[in-house]
Amino acid sequence: MTRRLTFGILTVAMITCLTLIFSTNQTVHAGKKHTHEHTEKDRHHEPDLLHDSMETMGSAFKSIRRQARDNSFDDSTLKQIQRMQTATLIAMHESCDDFANDKQRVIEYRTLMANALKKMLDMELAVLKGNNDDVAQMVRELHAMMKDGHSKFEVDDD
Ligand code: HEM
Repeated sequence: MTRRLTFGILTVAMITCLTLIFSTNQTVHAGKKHTHEHTEKDRHHEPDLLHDSMETMGSAFKSIRRQARDNSFDDSTLKQIQRMQTATLIAMHESCDDFANDKQRVIEYRTLMANALKKMLDMELAVLKGNNDDVAQMVRELHAMMKDGHSKFEVDDD
């Protein structure tokens, strides 16, 4: 009788333990899934257009500047210039939260971006015409414009 009672108590204890372990596991799992869902959501958050466009401009300009070392501009330069122009136009119509309501600042920002875009359009034509020395000069000017824009809008170039 005592044996059966002990066996019964042990069985109940085991079931309780298993239930507890199972439910804790589920909670941990649910927590993980929750975090995972958050991560997925974060990854697919609304794109930060200004940031993304500047990154595209940066990567395109990097390869153009590499070609400018020996003036080896070609069709791939045209592709990179095109990428830059499109990204610049997108970036131009975005604005940082910190100056979105400051009209003078918006004007200053768009003027700098428009000037950079004009330079890129001239660069495209110079590449098409094969005026490589002019292209190299424009690359230098565009680099100075970038530095100026970044310093006026407090962007770290590092
Ligand atoms: C050749 C022209 C330019 C290039 C290649 C360029 C490239 C870049 C790059 C690589 C970044 C860093 C993006 C990152 O955080 O990973 C950046 C950020 C930024 N640039 Fe430019 N930029 C150019 C011109 C300009 C001009 C003319 C302005 C101002 C009118 C400007 C304003 C900014 C701002 C405000 C940011 C911070 C964006 C953010 O991440 O929120 N840029 N740019």
